[in-house]
Amino acid sequence: MIKACIFDLDGVIVDTAVYHYQAWKRLANELGFDFTEHQNEQLKGVSRVRSLELILGWGNVTKTTAEQTELATRKNKWYVEMINRMQPSEILPGAKEFLQVARAAGLKTALGSASKNSATILERVGLLPLFNAIVDGNHVTASKPDPEVFLKGAEALGLNPVECVVFEDAIAGVQAAKAGGMKVVGIGSPDVLTAADLVIPGLHEMTLEKLQALNSVQKY
Ligand code: BG6
Ligand code: MG
Repeated sequence: MIKACIFDLDGVIVDTAVYHYQAWKRLANELGFDFTEHQNEQLKGVSRVRSLELILGWGNVTKTTAEQTELATRKNKWYVEMINRMQPSEILPGAKEFLQVARAAGLKTALGSASKNSATILERVGLLPLFNAIVDGNHVTASKPDPEVFLKGAEALGLNPVECVVFEDAIAGVQAAKAGGMKVVGIGSPDVLTAADLVIPGLHEMTLEKLQALNSVQKY
């Protein structure tokens, strides 16, 4: 029986991808190169450190570990400046409503995000009170597609993974949920999120009926 929903943050609850993109682009430009919006897709769901490695690879730039730490810190400073100005209007359509519906139905809710800035974002957009547990990049050692973040989310709720449904927009996130033995609802395109048990364009298309119907879906 499904007892909880675990949500990814970026691209599921809020569209912060655009802020990540702007900040990484600014960093790349300062280093003397650029990357495309298409390449940016590969950064979704990926940790800050791994994102920087990918970007430096695209620019054929080599940096020491200390330099990489400084670059990631610089990018994060710009990113935090942007998310500190976020408004509740930046919540993706249907996200708040589905959180409310799920909680009213007695389901538990948790966040399972790679971001180390999730508390700031949820506070800025006023969604913090709608989560029973927050697990993010500050609490895990392994990045998605490793299931650690979702397993810790289930644990924080006192539930078994099979009792939780994950909502994810990134391929790595869908893989992580499956690796953790959870049902997963993909947010985006079925052509991209092929391993998800159900794919919807956004949480505005989610209902409790669709959630409970996942119990009878068998996809591996
Ligand atoms: C994920 C985003 O949610 O968080 C990634 O999809 C991002 O693009 C990652 O790199 C880490 O975020 P932060 O806020 O800790 O730099
Ligand atoms: Mg995401």
